[in-house]
Amino acid sequence: MAKKMMIANWKMHLTIQEAQQYLQYFLQHFPYTEAPINILFCPPLTHIATLQKMMPAISSLYLGAQNCHHQAQGAFTGEVSAYMLKDMVTHVLVGHSERRKYAKETDDILKKKIDLLLSYKLQPIFCCGEPMVVRQHNQHISFIQTQINTCLGHLSPQAIQRVVIAYEPIWAIGTGQAAHSVQIQTMHQAIRSILQQQYGPTVAQNISLVYGGSCHEKNAAEIFSCQDVDGGLIGSAALDVEKWIKIGHILAAV
Ligand code: PGA
Repeated sequence: MAKKMMIANWKMHLTIQEAQQYLQYFLQHFPYTEAPINILFCPPLTHIATLQKMMPAISSLYLGAQNCHHQAQGAFTGEVSAYMLKDMVTHVLVGHSERRKYAKETDDILKKKIDLLLSYKLQPIFCCGEPMVVRQHNQHISFIQTQINTCLGHLSPQAIQRVVIAYEPIWAIGTGQAAHSVQIQTMHQAIRSILQQQYGPTVAQNISLVYGGSCHEKNAAEIFSCQDVDGGLIGSAALDVEKWIKIGHILAAV
């Protein structure tokens, strides 16, 4: 069965000091040793080394990066690669819609990132999701299918089980308007069946599918109750440690 997972995407927020205070508070107030969930924090790169020292050695808490370059080394000013991240984090977000939009990342580049991350034993969190216009034209399932097939379709059954897939409809990210739970379950079921067609039911059931896009402490119970939702990728609500703790309790209870 897929692991339940909640992922905090802090984006370009919080100073190191604020991040330390947040993590300290979280560790003191959330029963992470008992909760049957995996929790991943994706802070800005500048904070990772500091937070790494604070993380307890327990297999349910992880640190991740929000991005990496698609090559291991080279003359790429300002970039950081999987080769450098491999000793600092366990996971890396790949293909967040903000990267696709602002950094013009294509599915071909994302595929290279996935391969490089897996070669360094890092776990990609692969983000996919449609813009509103695609949904209005009723093309959302085929749109997601293309993203998944192009970036992940070449992976072996062993490799695909190292990937977490985040369904994030672009129109729901940062808008305060999450997708409806029926829309979410429909898409997650579609993703599961795309995986099942290629890899069979056992592998498909082992892959964690998380939802992202205005998921917060008030709608988390409904979203996490969807049969094919294994957790959340959370931006705004993950910046508030009290809200994050509430979301953790909700995920642990469903
Ligand atoms: P949001 O962001 O929760 O603020 O909508 C989610 C994301 O971008 O991953």
